[in-house]
Amino acid sequence: MARQRVGIIMNGVTGRMGRVQHLARSIAAMRADGGLEVGGVTIWPDPVLVGRDLERLRSLAAAHDIERVSTDLDACLADPADTVYFDSQTTARREQAVALAIAAGKDVYCEKPSATTSAAGYELADLAERAGVRNGAVQDKLFLPGLLKLREVLDSGALGRLLAIRIEFGYWVFPDAIGATQRPSWNYRAEDGGGIVLDMFCHFRYLLEHLFAPVESVLCEMATHESVRVDEGGRTYDATAEDAAYAIFRLAGGAVAQVNASWCTRPYRDDLFVLHADGTGGSAVAGLQECRIQPGAATPRYVWNPDVAASTTPRAPWLEVPGRRPPVNAFRHQWELFLRHLVTDEPFPWDLRDAARGVEVAELALASARERRWVDVPGSRA
Ligand SMILES: NC(=O)c1ccc[n+]([C@@H]2O[C@H](COP(=O)([O-])OP(=O)(O)OC[C@H]3O[C@@H](n4cnc5c(N)ncnc54)[C@H](O)[C@@H]3O)[C@@H](O)[C@H]2O)c1
Repeated sequence: MARQRVGIIMNGVTGRMGRVQHLARSIAAMRADGGLEVGGVTIWPDPVLVGRDLERLRSLAAAHDIERVSTDLDACLADPADTVYFDSQTTARREQAVALAIAAGKDVYCEKPSATTSAAGYELADLAERAGVRNGAVQDKLFLPGLLKLREVLDSGALGRLLAIRIEFGYWVFPDAIGATQRPSWNYRAEDGGGIVLDMFCHFRYLLEHLFAPVESVLCEMATHESVRVDEGGRTYDATAEDAAYAIFRLAGGAVAQVNASWCTRPYRDDLFVLHADGTGGSAVAGLQECRIQPGAATPRYVWNPDVAASTTPRAPWLEVPGRRPPVNAFRHQWELFLRHLVTDEPFPWDLRDAARGVEVAELALASARERRWVDVPGSRA
């Protein structure tokens, strides 16, 4: 089979997301499988790992059988043999690097949020469209096995008219030294691009809009529950960004979505992320791997009686959705779609313009919390 090399400049792969999800579980995993077959051609991703520390880059490359590393981003961008720029640096560094890559004529794919402000996010989308480069941003949660199963349920029409959605997300991130091994400390500093709203509302926005309906308005309350934390060096610092957000979204068509996102909660649920959707025809609950439904015809007729111990729990009558395909890592799944988009005319709707809308909804949620009021998404019929 003919092989088509795709040279990819990977910037930020010494970080948590870049190293594990994008390098090890996506690009290196694809290479270990012999590349990606698309229409009789094998796409062969050929990355150059870019960063500041040559030794770290070399050992990372060696671990994944990759030949090329560099500490010179400009030189990489100037090399016409590498046509794709990927960015998983810290959020605040993204705008500038992605803009440089677009100016160099590269196709770009990047982590979310695509920028720290919606103005910058839309500007990147404009730049990419004007330059005619293909572009995309990570929306991995859409491709989690549990959410792909939910998509099948929604496509079948089994839920009927959508009424309400609840998303529960989060877990306990220790404010002491253990916390710095769980998540990077910049996540808790507003001045470094941290904060759970900018970080997580991009995810919630694309889930709501790609699975259900456009967001029309948002009401958000947020908190910095732990205002002092310990960083990677064991030093105490002031946590200046919010570590929890509690929001309500109104969606086009009238459904309501409630979201709890917190780094200060101890979950008592089936997964660290759980989405529950109620419709007139049935309900569905999706976690990371699993999805369950309760069709309308199988809905128990509950009668409130707190004085009698229940013989069964409300979870019992739910049905498991088997799923039609073997589970694949969600990041790899989206990388494969992006690589297909590069070499074919297959559409890739998860582009920089769509990503900018995620930043915009996060920004509006922040404004709602600051101003203590509902905020409409411009252009929506709220
Ligand atoms: N899709 C998801 O589910 C998901 C989850 C977590 C984080 N993220 C996003 O991924 C991005 C990275 O997050 P992370 O948790 O991997 O962070 P991280 O701190 O572990 O990694 C950040 C990367 O940026 C690089 N970097 C930082 N400062 C730099 C500088 N001054 N010069 C050059 N390089 C520098 C680091 O070397 C590292 O490679 C963020 O934008 C975050 O929002 C996405």
